[in-house]
Amino acid sequence: MTHKTKGRLPNTGAISGLIEATDFFQNPNFANDRFAKYGDIFETKLIGQRLIFIRGDQAISDLLEQQNAVEGWWPASVRKLLGSRSLANRNGPAHKARRRVVGQLFSGTALKRYSPDIVIMVNELAEKLPLKNDPTPLAISMRRFAFSVIAKTVLGLDNSNCEALFLDFELWTKALFSIPLAIPGTPFAKALSARQRLLERLKTVLAEADGRRGGLDLLADGLDEHGFALTDDDLVEQLLLLLFAGYETTASSLTCLMRALLIEDNIKPWLMEEMEDLSWPPQENISTAYDASCAPRLNALVDEVMRMMPPVGGFFRKTRTNIILSGVEIPKDRVIQVALAASNRHGEGDLDRFRPQRHLDGSLKTKLVPFGGGERVCLGKALAELEIRLMVVGLLKQVRLKLITNQDLSLQLIPSPSPKDGLLLTAERR
Ligand code: HEM
Repeated sequence: MTHKTKGRLPNTGAISGLIEATDFFQNPNFANDRFAKYGDIFETKLIGQRLIFIRGDQAISDLLEQQNAVEGWWPASVRKLLGSRSLANRNGPAHKARRRVVGQLFSGTALKRYSPDIVIMVNELAEKLPLKNDPTPLAISMRRFAFSVIAKTVLGLDNSNCEALFLDFELWTKALFSIPLAIPGTPFAKALSARQRLLERLKTVLAEADGRRGGLDLLADGLDEHGFALTDDDLVEQLLLLLFAGYETTASSLTCLMRALLIEDNIKPWLMEEMEDLSWPPQENISTAYDASCAPRLNALVDEVMRMMPPVGGFFRKTRTNIILSGVEIPKDRVIQVALAASNRHGEGDLDRFRPQRHLDGSLKTKLVPFGGGERVCLGKALAELEIRLMVVGLLKQVRLKLITNQDLSLQLIPSPSPKDGLLLTAERR
């Protein structure tokens, strides 16, 4: 139910937003500190940009229910690096039409097609990890894996194209949440030139797509909002978005999940009990073999990682009209950030504790939306969940992982949570 009574919108009083921006980038409790002071909705300014932070089930569901009153929004750095054709930067019919086209890459049939390849990648990693003599940062392996799933399995790229794209992508991602000034030598300028190379390469890939690899054939005959075929320039920006949206996030959840298993003593035995009844690789129906009905503990663990360390700490909307969220009136043309990370730990009980069992025993009262919601809900949710489940089962059933002592296991949060030293470990085959 949307709240109808109007209240005043609390404001931090920031004028230029410079001090607020410094705190935003340095203080992991930026939003929480202000929620504690101003309540579940407040407005502030980050380097000239007004921003309204919201948390809590009521405000978030009010926002997601009023889809016509809002539109998508991303910070200027993300907007420029993704490009104006990207569906992430479009609204209304132009957004819907592209979601319909791109969504074909993530249907149940498409996931069935990708699953055997993902199993092969997991097995390759399970063979490779124990061969390393020195400690390996698992975070890098997870980044490469998540990138390969999209680049090779979904888009059908060969090894050399995949490697070249990966290197440019690492440059590109570094500037995503930076100040978007293309002064030569800055991360943003480097990212813009990486973007050009990425687009060129993706165009070649698109021209060479032959239907024998990947899922690009599923995009054939994609139509825009006027019923015309999407141009190649348009399509490659959608592919760039998929590479961006799909790998940092998925790699973060995988790394954070493995970190939790390695540092929380009681969780691994609890999970391994369930694993004993699961076969690897799945004998049939690979894409659904480890879903919540077959592997409830695994899925609860994934949910708990998404709750405590959401890969996307917040998503945005811009208001097209005045709207009321949890009783507070938000004017037209304001940018709202749904503060997922802060929201997920807010409420009664032991919400600051990592406890996957809460997703099975009915004790969690907060509604989680790690993949966003409404008409912009994450397009790759099912693929991300599939990759995570296959990697966790495949790896844990084949190798024993051991943490290296004396490493920084604390998390850097931007762009997505990841252990600062990369989760250094050694592995031996089971
Ligand atoms: C754990 C992994 C992932 C998480 C937590 C995640 C989360 C999100 C979130 C929070 C949004 C914004 C939703 C909103 O504005 O309401 C989003 C959008 C999106 N995601 Fe994901 N995502 C993940 C993986 C993926 C993957 C694997 C892909 C595809 C390869 C993908 C493709 C997209 C796309 C295309 C959008 C834009 C949707 C739109 O604007 O209509 N994501 N994701």
